Amino acid sequence: MTTPIPQNFVQTIAKQRGVTDAELETVFMALDGQSTAAIATKLGISDIAVRKRLGEVYKKFQIGGNGPGKLSELRHQLLFSYHTEQEGRDFSPRGKGSLLKMAILSEGFANEHRQQDWGQAPDVSVFYGRTEELTTLKQWVVSDNCRLVALLGLAGSGKTTLSVQFAKQVQNEFDLVIWRSLRSAPAPSDFLTNLIELFSNPQKPDVPIDLNGKISRLVEDLRKHRCLVILDDFEAVLRPEELAGHYREGYEGYRDLIVRLCEVNHNSCLVLVSSEEPTELALLAGEKVRSLKPAISEEIAREIFQEKGLSTQAQEWEILLARYGGNLLALKIVAITIHEFFEGNVLKFLEATALFVEEHISNLLAQQFDRMSSSEQEIAYWIAIAQSPISLATLREHILVNLSLSDLLKNLDSLGRRSVIEKINDGTETVFMLQPLIVQYVSDRLGEQIRAEVLETVKTQGIERMRLLKTHSLSISITKGKGGKGERSRSILELVKNRLQVLFAKTRGLEEPLNILTKVASDLEDKSILEVGYARENLAQIIAEIQC
Ligand SMILES: Nc1ncnc2c1ncn2[C@@H]1O[C@H](COP(=O)(O)OP(=O)(O)OP(=O)(O)O)[C@@H](O)[C@H]1O
Ligand SMILES: [Mg+2]
Repeated sequence: MTTPIPQNFVQTIAKQRGVTDAELETVFMALDGQSTAAIATKLGISDIAVRKRLGEVYKKFQIGGNGPGKLSELRHQLLFSYHTEQEGRDFSPRGKGSLLKMAILSEGFANEHRQQDWGQAPDVSVFYGRTEELTTLKQWVVSDNCRLVALLGLAGSGKTTLSVQFAKQVQNEFDLVIWRSLRSAPAPSDFLTNLIELFSNPQKPDVPIDLNGKISRLVEDLRKHRCLVILDDFEAVLRPEELAGHYREGYEGYRDLIVRLCEVNHNSCLVLVSSEEPTELALLAGEKVRSLKPAISEEIAREIFQEKGLSTQAQEWEILLARYGGNLLALKIVAITIHEFFEGNVLKFLEATALFVEEHISNLLAQQFDRMSSSEQEIAYWIAIAQSPISLATLREHILVNLSLSDLLKNLDSLGRRSVIEKINDGTETVFMLQPLIVQYVSDRLGEQIRAEVLETVKTQGIERMRLLKTHSLSISITKGKGGKGERSRSILELVKNRLQVLFAKTRGLEEPLNILTKVASDLEDKSILEVGYARENLAQIIAEIQC
């Protein structure tokens, strides 16, 4: 938290609490982020003496307990006092504001009735499985008093449904349950006002004006009352087309709120539901800050199919789960399709559709793909071409664009934060794979791009407009993982071949475009990989594929 608190303000408050000059000097340095060792060196005293001074300050501010977090608590107390003073109100323990607020609350929800504000939460009257996830969440949120729990996973994996069901199950443990979707990306200030008003007198809502004041107030309200706040669709406030987890401009207030809520002591819990993990979570993760990904659940999928009266054999299940990777939204749409268009016959559906990606799902996947940075997209294309787990070394070996190792790792990490790739350690090395539905989507998109680039090549009789044909080898050989050398790469080539054959057959026939492509490829023969990338070998592969 970087909000500056003026030194003279801290000094005044500290003096009121009986903090000595020496303690004050020490605490200023600690608030400035300096380590005890650094402070000790600067002040020429021992490490223990620094800790002792800080300990005295915490005592004077009535901050108890063991371990880290006390400095954050102190910072919060100071910030809160500062913002309240800025707002011209007195919320000190004996201040008028505090009494007024207590009176309002005792008339309102905090007294006997527990309250809920479900916002636009979806109906979960049909809910299957998830026993393990619900038990874990209950343990973390209710028993371990986690301050923040992130529910992460791909679109359609069941996060929202789980969050609502969980909130319903534990609502009686909380004074107030608040469920909000950030899908429409409300500005942090408006969002905070909306929540603060829930704690205020409706006749006279008393909401601080500036953003930091609002954050302080909400944190304070959540400290006073045990609340469960669920923020769904959190990815909407994160920035698209860049590495995952960074905030959109003007939305950093959400990060400040999260950091404050994770750092200070309270019994409320923020459940953050998102398909992208905000970057700060990795730093905050620990005893009070955890994250959970709903598991791929065959049980729920089976129930969804049964609900539609579909009976499915074990082998068919295997294929369905391999195809849709446990994406519940996809499986739900598939179940409806089988019911309505395949007379309820799962096998007929499987035989008729290599992979059925309904428009709604493919739009959803397109949205996810479009949110990625261009280098993440490049990497996703590589993994899709490989179509089997790919190692860091293989990626590095093939990628031509100038991506340093640290950039490559950052991009892989970002794809992980989007739940788009999975990292698996097979005992000898770490390999990366895309989620099944994503593989299919990315392959389709790649096939389409390559088709368009080949057509351009034929039209312009040159390679000026090529991009992916230069940057990506369509015949990447994978020595690791299932699939085997050559076998998988053919599928992308096949995809391109089918599309081109249909198109050429409909228009100018195969001969002329093949001659042009052959000529272009032979013109590239004396060119280096630095000049033309994989263009020549890709063209040769495509020509061979179309000819056979
Ligand atoms: N436990 C469950 N029982 C029954 N249906 C479920 C369950 N979990 C998910 N579903 C169904 O699967 C679909 C996708 O679930 P949900 O909307 O919760 O996913 P999500 O991860 O929140 O997706 P998004 O990231 O797009 O918001 C919904 O139609 C939902 O009804
Ligand atoms: Mg959702």
